[in-house]
Amino acid sequence: MNHIVVIGFMGSGKTRVGKRLSSDLGLTFVDVDKVIVRKMNMPVKEIFQRFGEPYYRALETMTVKALIEDKEKKVISLGAGLPIQEQNEKYIKQLGTVVYLKGSAETFRKRLEGNNNPLLEGDNQEEKIKKLLKQRDPIYHKFADIEVVTGVKPFEELIKEIESKL
Ligand code: S3P
Repeated sequence: MNHIVVIGFMGSGKTRVGKRLSSDLGLTFVDVDKVIVRKMNMPVKEIFQRFGEPYYRALETMTVKALIEDKEKKVISLGAGLPIQEQNEKYIKQLGTVVYLKGSAETFRKRLEGNNNPLLEGDNQEEKIKKLLKQRDPIYHKFADIEVVTGVKPFEELIKEIESKL
């Protein structure tokens, strides 16, 4: 399917950008995390705590597979960890055009202050962000058909840039 797929680190603005693209393009917006939360009827953090991360990752893979079969073109935002799972590699490629919202650890640190993501729990959030971003950026880059930098220009300009590249 040729969906528009928005990827990037936590705090990169995947939901905000995805929603805006969907309204500009007249397409339905789907946030994979939200689909899972709705299906399980509990927050992401609780799914991680009660069933463990591998279980959450399996739910993500199931959701992506279903979207590949979905014949109505959509804008889809993927949770930041989804592209990192090897089992998802072949599915992401089949989903559509991938837009990577790249950004610096400093941008994400500021935006993620007080965030209760299970992977950033505890002390030293800054180090955790830096380490995760270093691991993940090359993988996001590998999937990207379009790559834009978030946190340096106004939102409207970022949207214009993405839309001109689509
Ligand atoms: C995760 C990011 C979250 C969510 C889950 C795991 C990750 O999504 O899927 O908490 O591994 O980085 P967002 O990118 O929407 O915050």
